[in-house]
Amino acid sequence: MEGICVDYYLVKLLHVGCVVLSISLFILRGSLELFAQAWRQSRLLRVAPHVIDTVLLSSAVWMAWRIGQYPFVNAWLTAKVLALLAYILLGMKALGKSTPASQKLVYFVAALFSVGYIVGVALTRSPSWGML
Ligand code: HEM
Repeated sequence: MEGICVDYYLVKLLHVGCVVLSISLFILRGSLELFAQAWRQSRLLRVAPHVIDTVLLSSAVWMAWRIGQYPFVNAWLTAKVLALLAYILLGMKALGKSTPASQKLVYFVAALFSVGYIVGVALTRSPSWGML
């Protein structure tokens, strides 16, 4: 790719590293929540996701700027941002203290589907995963 050099690949590596950590921590917190474990007592589990997600989003914004492709201009990035909003809202519901226990699994699975969709969009650079 012309004009894309080592700094871009390092930031992309950082982005993907944060993606792996972010999804792993969400699965861990969601599972502990489903099994009614008191994970909020762990400072690490409460704070780390915020730090990781901030780095994840900052690297996303930087890469978008660097390749000159933007949400609400390029469809795949629009899809990523909208699905990210869905992931955040569904994730909040899945982990929320006021969500009835019987609904937590549904929100958890739905959140995993939205983040899975985002990974598919990222890999194909297409909102339909290249199927349309
Ligand atoms: C939870 C949210 C997100 C996940 C799971 C995610 C996932 C990924 C993955 C797996 C890649 C690597 C793709 C590859 O190897 O080719 C990637 C790249 C990228 N992501 Fe994200 N991402 C997220 C949020 C965002 C957001 C909100 C933006 C919007 C600005 C964004 C912009 C980018 C860009 C510009 C690349 C580089 C694409 C390339 O060079 O091929 N990401 N993302």
